[in-house]
Amino acid sequence: MSDELHAEHREGRGHVEAERFWEDHYRRRERVWSGRANPVLVDVVGSLQRPGTALDLGCGEGGDTIWLARQGWRVTAVDVSATALDRAAADAATAGVADRIDFRQHDLAATFPIGAFDLVSAQYLHSPIEFPRVHVLQEAASAVTPGGLLLIVDHASVSPGSWADPEETLAPLDLSPDEWHTERLEAREREAPGPNGQRATVTDNVIAVRRLAR
Ligand SMILES: C[S@@+](CC[C@H](N)C(=O)[O-])C[C@H]1O[C@@H](n2cnc3c(N)ncnc32)[C@H](O)[C@@H]1O
Repeated sequence: MSDELHAEHREGRGHVEAERFWEDHYRRRERVWSGRANPVLVDVVGSLQRPGTALDLGCGEGGDTIWLARQGWRVTAVDVSATALDRAAADAATAGVADRIDFRQHDLAATFPIGAFDLVSAQYLHSPIEFPRVHVLQEAASAVTPGGLLLIVDHASVSPGSWADPEETLAPLDLSPDEWHTERLEAREREAPGPNGQRATVTDNVIAVRRLAR
């Protein structure tokens, strides 16, 4: 979680709804994310999967969604922010892949998209406001088809000065080894731009679990 997001959260008083918080976050800037797909998604999905159906949870401005659609996936892309979804849809149209993407607005704390997917991806699905993450990730696992993959990528530093390891994300999901095979459970370092344009090394936790085919 970036220091900037935490600063925004501290500015708010009392309970702030997810939609209001994230809408405000996106509306404050013309563009929040780079538009590029997350490197771990490109690496894991590019090397392990043939295209099928995908669910992108917390898709933001659509960098991953559009990349997946370009690889031939049919994507359901979900976010709580209408502004983020509008930007993602505009970019998808420009990229010529809008017909392969179904954009849906959900507050995942309240509702979850119906359906089963060959890939369910949750990339940096963190929120500085109250968010039932374990419950949402359990629902994410339930939405994976037999033979399909659940890919979770987290910031290892979930809040400034506090670190988590990938097991801490996987264990509470309580996925039975009779039904799931852990393909990746690792902390990975990558170079990322810092707030003042300097380069910084950040650590991602990568969890890739495959639901065994029946
Ligand atoms: C840290 S951003 C990551 C965005 C994108 N996945 C990426 O990797 O760039 C978290 C995203 O989750 C969305 N989000 C946060 N809380 C949510 C909720 N309760 N329901 C649906 N989306 C949510 C935010 O709007 C935001 O786009």
